Amino acid sequence: MGTPAFNVHAFRAAQRAAPLSDFARELHAGLSQETRSISPKFFYDVAGSALFDRICELPEYYPTRTELRILTECAPEIAAQIGPQAEIVEFGAGSLTKVRLLLDALEAPRRYVPIDISGEHLAAAAERLRADYPRLSVQPMVADYTMPLVLPSREKGGGQRVGFFPGSTLGNFTPEEALAFLQLACRLLRGGGLLVGVDLVKDPALLHAAYNDAQGVTAAFNLNLLQRANRELDTDFDLDGFTHAAFYNAPRRRIEMHLVSRTDQTVTLDGQRFRFEEGETIHTENSHKFTIEGLRALAVRAGFRPAAVWTDPERLFSVHWLQAQG
Ligand code: AVI
Repeated sequence: MGTPAFNVHAFRAAQRAAPLSDFARELHAGLSQETRSISPKFFYDVAGSALFDRICELPEYYPTRTELRILTECAPEIAAQIGPQAEIVEFGAGSLTKVRLLLDALEAPRRYVPIDISGEHLAAAAERLRADYPRLSVQPMVADYTMPLVLPSREKGGGQRVGFFPGSTLGNFTPEEALAFLQLACRLLRGGGLLVGVDLVKDPALLHAAYNDAQGVTAAFNLNLLQRANRELDTDFDLDGFTHAAFYNAPRRRIEMHLVSRTDQTVTLDGQRFRFEEGETIHTENSHKFTIEGLRALAVRAGFRPAAVWTDPERLFSVHWLQAQG
């Protein structure tokens, strides 16, 4: 099964901001392959982002609430690792709830640099944070954090520079992209470290439920990709002609999401017709699951020194403190 190329979840805003032409070009390329795929970055238009927010609240979707629980319960230990006067660099504007948990636990955090490709979203989020943390210097950066970037120079007397990458967004990258991202982060964070949240390998039944929820929100999230194409690119996807499929690929330790054609049909994009046979799929997302040891080994390959790891009692999710030696 082909792997959709993925640049960023965090993508969420990144995806929202992806220029129309990128979507058209990538959809065209994705539909032209023998194994059809489209990058999950295109999930996150306004409707897709709202559906993702609903997914995070679903009873079956444990990752968000489990990570929040870990961050809340382990905040004093995390803060002890990070120390005072820290500079937090968040990859992806992310959930303000998560970084707030961190900021509330830290001793006198000095600077917060959220990096996201969507400037508009970022400016609004930064404004809200400034209002609530008047002593924190909030310096948003509009950039694609999967590309090499230059951070604002360190302040004199500042503490550690700490990267924050929650939500198991790392799992939406291919293994090669995950390594490349960690290598990049390690270079940026020298002398500090990375706090990263990743979902863990577990009973496939739990994983299956999390991506096949009873209310059908994940199905709607997946199918929104076709709706978005019809809205923005004037394609003629028959929304009843495709169905959501998500399953655990055990050898690859990942949930795969697909859109499956219910019938033999044709879809038109830019005057070109694409034929689908019944059962043929468009691969829309991979969500890799990690073992604690596997994530630590990957971090070592990227140049980090894995230090503490926190998890929930059921070991559903994990938060890792990876040191980037100076
Ligand atoms: C954003 N990302 C970590 C989610 C995940 O679980 O891989 C996206 C998602 N796809 C379906 N449900 C949630």
